[in-house]
Amino acid sequence: MLVSPSLLSADFGNLEREMQWFNQSEADFLHLDLMDGVFVPNLSFGFPVMEGVAPLCRKPLDVHLMVVNPESYLDRVAKIPGVRYFNFHYEATKNPVALLQLVRQKGFPTAITISPDTPVDVLRPLVPLLDMVLIMSVYPGFGGQKFIPAAVQRVCRLREMADEADHPLLIEVDGGVNETTGKMLAEAGADILVAGSYVFRAENPAEKVALLKSLS
Ligand code: DX5
Ligand code: ZN
Repeated sequence: MLVSPSLLSADFGNLEREMQWFNQSEADFLHLDLMDGVFVPNLSFGFPVMEGVAPLCRKPLDVHLMVVNPESYLDRVAKIPGVRYFNFHYEATKNPVALLQLVRQKGFPTAITISPDTPVDVLRPLVPLLDMVLIMSVYPGFGGQKFIPAAVQRVCRLREMADEADHPLLIEVDGGVNETTGKMLAEAGADILVAGSYVFRAENPAEKVALLKSLS
């Protein structure tokens, strides 16, 4: 399993210390949640924090944009060293195909996120264009929410769609992930688990990362 701890639940007064354990952990990515208070009813952090944390982080950055007009963020996100994924919401743009093309032109793999109420089937025509899909297992906007169990079925369905299209697709899941929900998601065919509070609020965060890593 690949693991992408979400910085949203970190201690922002001690980011340097957080990055010390993080860099030494088995984490594969650092998940960065960008919120605008419009697409979701909350704000997180913006460019100064992302640009400040990037040089401290020795793992690729997995940027999850919960914003309207995600296209207007692409140039600046692309300038941050270490960004691997520019992951925007399907619901936030009128023309996902055009934005996926721009994302690819920037040299990123293509990635898109769907919120819990968006049917997985909307992605059917997009699957051949996608390297990664992020399935939200909570309503986007806040850390520490309860896992929505329907996400497990949604992962299975998406994996089936990708297999039918004979297309390799990374499936990432975000929200309410812990060792129990993580195990269910692993069995359903998820490749990457995002975990915020479960990892960052633990006494030994690196141990929780290792636990999620061992799920298959
Ligand atoms: C929520 C964010 C998540 C959040 C997950 O909108 O996209 O990445 O940090 O937090 P947990 O793992 O605590 O549910
Ligand atoms: Zn996220």
